[in-house]
Amino acid sequence: MRRIGEGRPLHIFICVNERAGAHCGHRNELRTLKRWVIENGLLSKIQITGTTCLGYCGENRVCWVYPENMFYEFRSLKEVKEFIKKSL
Ligand code: FES
Repeated sequence: MRRIGEGRPLHIFICVNERAGAHCGHRNELRTLKRWVIENGLLSKIQITGTTCLGYCGENRVCWVYPENMFYEFRSLKEVKEFIKKSL
């Protein structure tokens, strides 16, 4: 085992799984969000990772936030961005 790097202060895992009955699969929004992070100079502070099902399937964007260790549901990409700005 070897250490390969230190994590960023905030890491958001966003479900992009496409499942019938759930609307988590916003792959285009994941790309948009990553671009927004870069354009706003936040790359050293936050990492965004797309994941498969986080177990809270629903109508909105499901995220797990580290190091808070909390799951959130966001109604829009705008809400995710506001959360990031507030958290940093
Ligand atoms: S499919 Fe997204 S949380 Fe289950």
